[in-house]
Amino acid sequence: MTIHKLLVLILVVGLVLGGCVKTDPKPDDNKPTIEEKVAQMIQAERYSLSKSEQETYQLGSVLSGGGSVPSSNTPQGWIDLIASYQEASTIPVVYGVDAVHGHNNAQGATIFPHNIGLGATNDPELIKKIGIAVGKELLATGVHWNFAPCLAVVQDIRWGRTYESYSENPQLVSELGTAFIQGIQSTGIAATAKHYLADGGTVFGTSSGSYKIDQGDAQLDEATLRAIHLYPYLSAIAQGNVLSVMISFSSIDGLKMHANDYWINDVLKDELNFKGLVVSDWEAIHQLEGSLYMQLVSAVNAGVDLLMEPNNWNNVYTTMLRAVKNGDIAEERIDDAFSRIQYVKEQLGLIDATFPQGKASDFNSEEHRALAREAVSKSLVLLKNNNVLPLAKSSNILLIGPGADNAGLASGGWTVSWQGEMNDSKLPQATTLKEAFESVANENGATIFTDVAQVDQADVVVVVLSETPYAEGVGDASDLGLSGNTMHPDNAAAIEFARTTKKPVVVLLNSGRPRVVGDEIDDWDALVMTWLYGSEAQGITDVLYGDLDFTGKLPVTWPKTSDTSNTSSMAGDRDLDNVLFDFGYGLHY
Ligand code: BGC
Ligand code: BGC
Repeated sequence: MTIHKLLVLILVVGLVLGGCVKTDPKPDDNKPTIEEKVAQMIQAERYSLSKSEQETYQLGSVLSGGGSVPSSNTPQGWIDLIASYQEASTIPVVYGVDAVHGHNNAQGATIFPHNIGLGATNDPELIKKIGIAVGKELLATGVHWNFAPCLAVVQDIRWGRTYESYSENPQLVSELGTAFIQGIQSTGIAATAKHYLADGGTVFGTSSGSYKIDQGDAQLDEATLRAIHLYPYLSAIAQGNVLSVMISFSSIDGLKMHANDYWINDVLKDELNFKGLVVSDWEAIHQLEGSLYMQLVSAVNAGVDLLMEPNNWNNVYTTMLRAVKNGDIAEERIDDAFSRIQYVKEQLGLIDATFPQGKASDFNSEEHRALAREAVSKSLVLLKNNNVLPLAKSSNILLIGPGADNAGLASGGWTVSWQGEMNDSKLPQATTLKEAFESVANENGATIFTDVAQVDQADVVVVVLSETPYAEGVGDASDLGLSGNTMHPDNAAAIEFARTTKKPVVVLLNSGRPRVVGDEIDDWDALVMTWLYGSEAQGITDVLYGDLDFTGKLPVTWPKTSDTSNTSSMAGDRDLDNVLFDFGYGLHY
């Protein structure tokens, strides 16, 4: 072979090889493929994702929705479920739940008051401790991520999610929400600030379907949006370092938040410099216009990083891949989403396997129950008292009304199941109000009667009026009266008894929001708002018997009528005629 021929040969081989490199790049082992990145951007529900599907698809995240639990609903059952996904995954999954007032899906957990009751405590240190307690109970079950706290600043209490809001006041929401985030994230669990933006500011009557205000439209100018609804996110991000933000189902001026490029990309990510991941709400992108393809393009381009797709994850995966390959979603956008999800997993210690191991003994520990009891006592708001409270420990009490002995009603929605429980058969860990009264009475030689026929033997009548449990738009109410929407049917008889008895009457209202009490309040000697207090009713008797004083203050304005559109203390043209008890009201002994 001549030198010349040899050179030509080398040249040809070089060109062929070079050409190969150009047209058929060898995948770099360290770099994830588009397929891998897209899969990381999807979150499925545990009920729709098997271990072997996870082996194939390698999704980034799995969730338990309200009431969605492992077949064995014990701490070990949760640990095993999450471990089985981990075994199937190359990049560890991040597992999320709604522990919105304690680890409320897990059987036997401590149930804390819902946020509105915590708002009444106005006690950031307490809320921080609750964050730590919830974090420890989650760690004890192997969960990584909590879809809490809700930073809604509720402006109209007809909203079914009023109780998930700490207050109508943005300052209070900001302080308590940040305290919760700091507490829970200090345990190693990721928190979620939700629902971004203005979930608490929608106009009654703007929802679609059977809802009235939930998922509706916020019709506010930018200055108001920032002053009221964006406000708590500032410190959640800057001081709380919150690792995730969930987008709201609702709209701003007719544009669904999940397609809102300005508020997600420009404000949340650029202006507020949020570094964590943005997660969509439950199938919320399907409310956007157009085909699934178009919905994905709008949501992901608007800045959504992780798609909560409990059921349709498979379709979402193939459709999103198509959108990326067509260039309708830029690869840089996928890279950004992927790296934000990775960032959260790194912060959690999932990537280097340093995610903290929980302690079984933390689950519903005595310490957590004591903390919840303290929170209950601090959340109570005394609205009226004609010298009947505090109760003497020796007094015989007739205790009636639907909330008298029912921890399901005391806990409300997001307890055991999504919509909550009408009875407490699945809350054996709870102390009911009747049990709390009895433990004091028994020690003091007094009796707690529950049959109205025994009223003559009682010194005082305690009537526990109650809402029925509800969650989200199911709890939207146009009638806030005592027999209006979401009120328990058995209230009527108890109210009638309170009207006619000659004995002193103390009314406790077990409810996620103020109710319109009308003239009925004139028949009552005392009225105490107990909110949705959860599993530790002794926090109520601690105060009613005078061992502790009332310190709670109304975190929302208490209306006279059901038209609460302008009753909030934040309303621009506030309807003062509709205020029965103002924001911040609360008596003590
Ligand atoms: C709620 C969210 C919740 C999610 C997952 C949605 O319907 O709006 O608050 O985190 O479900 O359960
Ligand atoms: C789930 C909830 C979810 C809701 C949304 C329910 O089936 O359990 O977690 O928020 O659906 O509609």
